[in-house]
This record gives sequence, C-alpha cells and structure tokens, in this order.
Amino acid sequence: MFRPSSLARAVPRARAFASTAAAQSAIRRVAVIGGGQMGSGIAQVAAAHKHDVTLVDVSQEALERGKGYMAKSLGRVAKKKFPEDAQAQSRFVEEVLGRVSLSTDLKAAAGSAGLVIEAAVENIKLKQELFAGLAAAAPEDAILASNTSSLPIARIAAPLSAERKRRMIGLHFFNPVPQMKLVEVVRTDEAEQQVVDDAVAFVKGIGKVPAVCKDTPGFIVNRLLLPYTMEAVRLLERDVASPRDIDTAMKLGAGYPMGPFELCDYVGLDTIKFIVDGWHKEGQGLAGDKLFAPSAKLDELVKKGHLGVKTGRGFYEY
Ligand SMILES: NC(=O)c1ccc[n+]([C@@H]2O[C@H](COP(=O)([O-])OP(=O)(O)OC[C@H]3O[C@@H](n4cnc5c(N)ncnc54)[C@H](O)[C@@H]3O)[C@@H](O)[C@H]2O)c1
Repeated sequence: MFRPSSLARAVPRARAFASTAAAQSAIRRVAVIGGGQMGSGIAQVAAAHKHDVTLVDVSQEALERGKGYMAKSLGRVAKKKFPEDAQAQSRFVEEVLGRVSLSTDLKAAAGSAGLVIEAAVENIKLKQELFAGLAAAAPEDAILASNTSSLPIARIAAPLSAERKRRMIGLHFFNPVPQMKLVEVVRTDEAEQQVVDDAVAFVKGIGKVPAVCKDTPGFIVNRLLLPYTMEAVRLLERDVASPRDIDTAMKLGAGYPMGPFELCDYVGLDTIKFIVDGWHKEGQGLAGDKLFAPSAKLDELVKKGHLGVKTGRGFYEY
C-alpha cells in the first residue's frame, strides 16, 4: 500500500532485473472476474502489455463503469507517454481498450483463458462459488488466481479438486493497480512450483515486480501494515498525539510517504475493520491476538459511516 523511501530506492534495481530476466510469459488470454477498482486496473495493465483480456462482471452497468475507470486511467498514461500528440494519445487508449472484451458470461470468458484472476467482492462464499464455476469452465491447464486481500487462498480453493488446487494461487495486486509495482504471488501448500514460476513470469511480463510468499493472513504487506495502523489508532485512543502529529512523525521520522491515518482513510476504514475483525475472530495463527483486537475509535467511525476519502470523512475531512 505504501513505500518507505528505502524500499522506493530498491524498486528500480528490481525492475532492471525483471527486464533482463527471462520474463516471457506463455499466458496470452486472461479473464478478470470483477470489474471494480481492482479488476479494471488488472485488466487495463494486462491489456497494455498485449494480453487479450475478458473482463467479467454481474451486469452491463458494472462493466461500463469498469471500462470508464480504464479509459480515465489510460488517458492519464497516454498524456505522459505522448505529451504533445493528442492523436497518439487517443490511438493508445483505443488500442489498449480494444484488447479488453466485456462479458457477463463467466463460463464463456474462463473457457478460453490461460489465466483467470478473480477480483470480485471480498466474501468467502461468493469466491468459493465463483471458483467452483471457474473450475468447471476453464481449460485444464489454466492457472486460477484470486486477488483477495484477507482470505486464505486454500480456503477459497477448498471446494476444488486436487488437480485444480495444484493450479490455484493468489495474485495480490495493490491499489491503484496501474501505479503500484508490487504483486504478491501467494503459494499454497498444494500449488505446483511450475504454476508459481508461470505466475511470476506473467507478473514480470506486465511490468510489475513479484514477491512470492506463503498463504498466511495478510501475506507480507498487510501482515506488517495492519498491526502498524492499529497501533497508530491505539496511540490516538490513549491521547498520545493527534492524527496529524502521528502522520507527520511517521512521514518525516520514518520516511513513509503517507502517515497511518492518511493510509486508513485512503484504504477505507470499513475495509481495515473487516480485515482485523476477521483475523481476530478466525485468522490462521492470529485469532485472539491483541494486535487485532477491536478498537472503539475505529468501530465508532465505521458505525457513523465515516469511512475515509470515499465518504468525505474518516480520521480527516475531505
Ligand atoms: N481495493 C483495494 O485496495 C484492494 C487491494 C487489493 C486487493 N483487493 C481485493 O480485490 C477484490 C476486489 O476489490 P475492489 O476494491 O475492486 O472491489 P469493488 O467493490 O470495487 O469491485 C468488485 C466488483 O466485483 C463485482 N462482482 C460482485 N460479484 C460478482 C460475481 N459473482 N461475478 C463477477 N463480478 C462480481 C462487483 O459488481 C464489482 O464491480 C477484493 O477481494 C479485495 O479484497 C482490494
């Protein structure tokens, strides 16, 4: 979600490695399930790197909204790429959008995909049902991936056959997808090494930097970030300092580009609460951990609908 300055310095080296490594991906056709914030970003980036993409959602309206997100974001990319050339800008946007088909037919979209990336809403039952449908429709050698932030990949894959489980992983992108370089490649105990290697090659091929990790709550980034943000909220509850002073301290003292309260407001307080409550209740190895115990302050803001930037008010007003 954010990059301390030391990490930001490491990224160009990692990128240079990615471009010289054998980053060729054999995957051509990608189906992205869910055309919201994340799914539309993933579809856009895959299409910008010459993949044929089908974006699937539950209604034409949702698909058009997803296409709108892509067009807006691509417009910004095009302006940077061709600063003085309006024609080249619109050609670029049309060309990339031309590689994205929109569909409400999950089975047809999965039927020809080498890789399916699910980015629908964060709900275990819904994801399990989606993957059961995908397993029935996708080619046998397709890779199935979920972009879940907080659910165990193995739990999402629970209803699948042993063969499908070997080809199921997590591909955790970061928001906003076109700008954020990292993708966590989440390896379950069942996943084949070849599937992980192919996923890593795909990630490099779309200009991102992979970090491979085990299927544990929060993977790498959120497992470190959420205790940090919850500790910041508890500093506030103990009246140690104001959100502004805590944010300033972490930006200027630790070199973080955003403070913890700015980050909470950006991510959405409901999302933070959903994740920590889930881990506190039933997180693998985390249940009952006081790091993730409910916070009265966070609960109060969520109850009032002050969810952050998206509602105009969270820890700050917008
Ligand atoms: N927003 C983030 O910062 C972020 C970051 C990383 C991962 N994620 C994960 O990505 C996933 C999507 O998050 P988002 O922020 O894009 O959500 P979103 O609400 O913006 O989009 C979800 C989309 O899924 C669609 N959908 C719902 N049911 C569906 C179904 N049965 N078939 C197809 N589409 C369906 C919805 O219509 C909607 O367009 C979640 O699992 C979330 O945890 C989110």
